[in-house]
Amino acid sequence: MATIGIMDSGAGGLSVLREILRLLPGERYLYYSDNANCPYGEKTPEFITDRCRQIVRGFLDEGADAVVIACNTATAAAIATLRAEWPELPFVGMEPAVKPAALGTRSGVVGVLATAGTLKASKYLDTRNHYAGDVKVVERVGKGFVELVESLELDGPHTEQVVRESLEPLLQAGADTVVLGCTHYPFLLPVLQRVAGPGVRFIDPAPAAARQLVRLLDSRGIAHSSPDSPALRDITIKSSGQSETARRILNQIL
Ligand code: DGL
Repeated sequence: MATIGIMDSGAGGLSVLREILRLLPGERYLYYSDNANCPYGEKTPEFITDRCRQIVRGFLDEGADAVVIACNTATAAAIATLRAEWPELPFVGMEPAVKPAALGTRSGVVGVLATAGTLKASKYLDTRNHYAGDVKVVERVGKGFVELVESLELDGPHTEQVVRESLEPLLQAGADTVVLGCTHYPFLLPVLQRVAGPGVRFIDPAPAAARQLVRLLDSRGIAHSSPDSPALRDITIKSSGQSETARRILNQIL
């Protein structure tokens, strides 16, 4: 059995844990929500890197075999530094799924919803320039989305209005494929899909991140469960602020 540390600025990373649990139901999970510092979207890369470092140290103290930075913003800001500082520790990061979106669009227009920090990071810009040369990419910050999820306002008229404001410009530009470039956003998927209509496909990179975690464990020879193993549900939640949001969302995904 492996011990996996998973972190995010809040409860968003639970959308990644949900996918990881499908492939690895029998591991021990440590989830850290840094919600006293949420959102990360407007924080400096230095601040985010420092928080990640402290959280990773905590995971290692508890015996983590691998760490998932289940946050696009923190991945863009910190993962290169973390990998350099802990070369033996397998890290999985999150990146907006521009490549599958560029390959799958029929309208030739791809929308990307992410935080300001992710959209201006060189990691994202490199990926976009590499994979999306032949399609038009329209980007928007999901303004207020993280706050909606953290306050558990996952649906309702107010949520729909907030979602519509950021999504509408992408739809008007002709996007038929929208990348969810922040791990909080998949919890708003029912509202996003309702506002966009059935012709728009949303891409969540979490399943790809879960597959990458399995590949990394295999390559390091770390024993782990398989999708048909019994679900252990050994998940410890810690947070720098209140734990209520993460606990409620965890109950939902279980
Ligand atoms: N869940 C995050 C991400 O994937 C961070 C959101 C935030 O704190 O701004 O980018």
